[in-house]
Amino acid sequence: MKINVLTLFPDMFTPLTTSMLGRGLDDGKWQLNLVNFRDFTSDVHHHVDDSPYGGGAGMVLQIMPIKKALDSLKNKGKVIITAPQGKTFNQKMAQDWSQAENLTFICGHYEGFDQRVYDLADEIVSIGDYVLTGGELPTMSMIDATVRLIPGILGNDASPVEESFAHGLLEYPQYTRPENFQGMKVPAVLTSGNHQKIAQWRHKEALRATYLSRPDLLEQYALSKEEEKMMTE
Ligand code: ADE
Repeated sequence: MKINVLTLFPDMFTPLTTSMLGRGLDDGKWQLNLVNFRDFTSDVHHHVDDSPYGGGAGMVLQIMPIKKALDSLKNKGKVIITAPQGKTFNQKMAQDWSQAENLTFICGHYEGFDQRVYDLADEIVSIGDYVLTGGELPTMSMIDATVRLIPGILGNDASPVEESFAHGLLEYPQYTRPENFQGMKVPAVLTSGNHQKIAQWRHKEALRATYLSRPDLLEQYALSKEEEKMMTE
């Protein structure tokens, strides 16, 4: 997969070149193409923004350099603008995007884009109901969530299958050594060696964690009769 990012701050993306995603880049499992759209301005001062028509405070990012930067790309794939007014990003979107050959993100700053820039996008996506100073951190979050689902990026291919949201529930609790830490014990079922009982316990704990922390997720999750029984036990 090749991901293009149109940004005024390409240096902000160095975190993506470390850890698992960095190894994936080195191994050629994905590519990151950072494009500074300031390079596509034609005036001597390289302006990318101007004051809003109709008056008002702040500046608005202009369409011209962004459109030229987009046109310079060979393969854009889906064009995504990160902005607080977009629909909220989720695991399902990360799963869909992880199948793509190309993705292009456009990162905004200041008071936002000229409305005609939004019209260039296939999707406007937010990371939550709060406002950041720019689209770089949201874009990095979305790239991380997406790229880690590309086969071979995580050490263990099976791990994304078990994690939170993968089946519409939060993940069950995990434990590792020691079995007893200052009186805080690992649930006995996990050391019982009974795999069926362990699977049942994990499923029940996933349901419980979801019910306690994110009951909204259960509204979209079709509980089976058996699961309903588990919840009331
Ligand atoms: N840019 C500024 N705030 C944002 C948010 N919450 N999500 C996506 N992009 C943003």
